[in-house]
Amino acid sequence: MVFLTRRERFCCAHRLYKEEWSDKKNLEVFGKCSNANWHGHNYVLYVTVKGEIKEETGYVVNLKSLSSLIETHVINKLDHKNMNLEVDFMKGKIASTENLAIAIWEVLEPHIIKLDIELHRIKVEETENNFVEYFG
Ligand code: NI
Repeated sequence: MVFLTRRERFCCAHRLYKEEWSDKKNLEVFGKCSNANWHGHNYVLYVTVKGEIKEETGYVVNLKSLSSLIETHVINKLDHKNMNLEVDFMKGKIASTENLAIAIWEVLEPHIIKLDIELHRIKVEETENNFVEYFG
């Protein structure tokens, strides 16, 4: 079994808040990320897949196929968008890095299986110091 990781980057605006809470309570719980007028992060996404090396190609998977799949289903939907308002797979969810990592897994997994490999990990960095990993 060989593990392979593709890194992608995207910029996205978001706000962490609960509508039923006051601005004060949102600020207490979510800090600066609850700013009512949005703010953005330069996110880094790592998609790790696993599989056996195909004898014919020496590859686990063609990286071009993997990257174009990630671009179509994830990056194009998030990059330079508002995560709360414009991203279909984040609708109705708190726009946290945790929820984002799980949503990206759910979006990508059915497509990745078709490439004859398995999804192993989704890692999302929101800042240099904060990142989330999800293993399904
Ligand atoms: Ni934030």
